[in-house]
Amino acid sequence: MSQKPYPASEDSALLRSTVEHLSGGTCLEIGAGNCGNVNVMAGRFALAVATDLVRPAISDWKESGTNFVLADRATCFRDCSFDVVAFNPPYVGSGPVEDVAVDGGEGGTEVPLSFLREAVRVWRPGGRLLFLVSSENQLKPFEDEVGRGAMRLEKVAERHLFYETLSVYEATAGSPRVSRTAKSR
Ligand SMILES: C[S@@+](CC[C@H](N)C(=O)[O-])C[C@H]1O[C@@H](n2cnc3c(N)ncnc32)[C@H](O)[C@@H]1O
Repeated sequence: MSQKPYPASEDSALLRSTVEHLSGGTCLEIGAGNCGNVNVMAGRFALAVATDLVRPAISDWKESGTNFVLADRATCFRDCSFDVVAFNPPYVGSGPVEDVAVDGGEGGTEVPLSFLREAVRVWRPGGRLLFLVSSENQLKPFEDEVGRGAMRLEKVAERHLFYETLSVYEATAGSPRVSRTAKSR
């Protein structure tokens, strides 16, 4: 399986647009790639942490103040550790080309859901939890996952690309439902 760092792309930029204005105590980007998103948050948080299975190819995370950890999702952290958790997971269904940066497993949702479970575990209720999904993925499993924690999804950003629509959702406390702008499949 390829282990090259993910080069920042349109999906990275969309997630960044939703986190770059945030500030606070602790933040985590799961699967941070070259750390472009978390580096932007690092100057605005007391502690900024990034995880990935692959080391960043670009070293500017060191200057930015980001703490990079080579780890599986957020499994090395305790429950309720972060005020803000964000991720742009691999979301392409498994195919002949194996690449850890894009392979989302079964239906393209297996890996993103495993990210979400970890995000919900380490996220401090009252903080912010933001993540990107593609219109190629079914949204229902994500709704179900956050619904188990009495949260709902609200779409906060969207971008149309060639064959798909990328959306960033925020999980917020409240009765499990999808906001009026979100589309279930
Ligand atoms: C689509 S890329 C996004 C990278 C970066 N967040 C961005 O927006 O540019 C998904 C990232 O998740 C990482 N990844 C895949 N499985 C992982 C796992 N189990 N734990 C941590 N990172 C993982 C990949 O190496 C890749 O860097």
